[in-house]
Amino acid sequence: MPNPPAPAFLQLFEPDAAAVRDELVQGLLAPHAHVAPKFLYGPLGSCLFDAITLLDEYYPTRVEASILEANAAAVAEACGTARPLVDLGAGNCAKAAGLFGALQPSQYVAVDISVEFLRQSLARLQQAHPALPMLGLGMDFSRALTLPPAVLPGPRTLFYPGSSIGNFDPDEALAFLRQVHAACDGGKLLIGVDLVKDKAVLDAAYDDALGVTAAFNLNLLRNVNALLGADFDPAQWQHVAAFEPVRSRIEMHLVARSPQVVHWRGGERRFEAGERIHTENSCKYRPDDFAALLHDAGFRGTRLWTDERRWFAVFVASA
Ligand code: AVI
Repeated sequence: MPNPPAPAFLQLFEPDAAAVRDELVQGLLAPHAHVAPKFLYGPLGSCLFDAITLLDEYYPTRVEASILEANAAAVAEACGTARPLVDLGAGNCAKAAGLFGALQPSQYVAVDISVEFLRQSLARLQQAHPALPMLGLGMDFSRALTLPPAVLPGPRTLFYPGSSIGNFDPDEALAFLRQVHAACDGGKLLIGVDLVKDKAVLDAAYDDALGVTAAFNLNLLRNVNALLGADFDPAQWQHVAAFEPVRSRIEMHLVARSPQVVHWRGGERRFEAGERIHTENSCKYRPDDFAALLHDAGFRGTRLWTDERRWFAVFVASA
């Protein structure tokens, strides 16, 4: 059999090195230092995240997959079939590929900021599904979600799994969901959301015994070193993650193990022992609160499926 064609790929953002540097330096010099979670990813960070999804403690990926598997027919009926399937934050594309049978998409559009990782994942997937038109979009959709004309017009199904919506604060999540609503072009949103649960379960999911999440968090310092020409020593930092019930979110930080001065091209900062860099929030929702957020973003007719323990929910909502 001839090889299937390589999937079309559009790189929709020109990484603006100066803007990235400004964003990083501003965060590092803030009284409470912070670095955005998008800097967790890259060739190694994306592999470490894939490893996290295989950990015993990290239940979201497994539970979401089991909900989608157990309810595939009902979810497909709610979403509609034979539509373009737009996968936001596609990564290794495995979650969306699991839906191809039920959704029978007319086109698969994989969107991710980690361009090289996506390109390889999509090329592999095209081999397995030679007849399905595929398109890769390298874009930072957390900034703006404008789909190019190469994405077939609506109604479309937008797929945002894994509770990635939790990595936005609720007001940012609302602004993002409004953009998703427009991109659905009269179609549906299929979204996975992690739910509030026992603190011990949440804490373990973000601070696993093998230290994979710690490596994922510490690897951010390597990414910052590469982008800024900085000299962070990951051995001098400790991973800390815990559920904060008042804000209903996991907060992930890096804590300085010793006093130190970190340098980068054109600047430096002294960190005292115990001082923190905030690297990620992962908000956890109650089902009604998330349904209200979808409603505020313009979605209607929301349905949801969950697991026996009500740890995770999959919502389908009409745009
Ligand atoms: C990608 N995102 C949904 C993950 C989460 O659970 O918030 C990222 C992650 N951070 C630590 N472990 C996983």
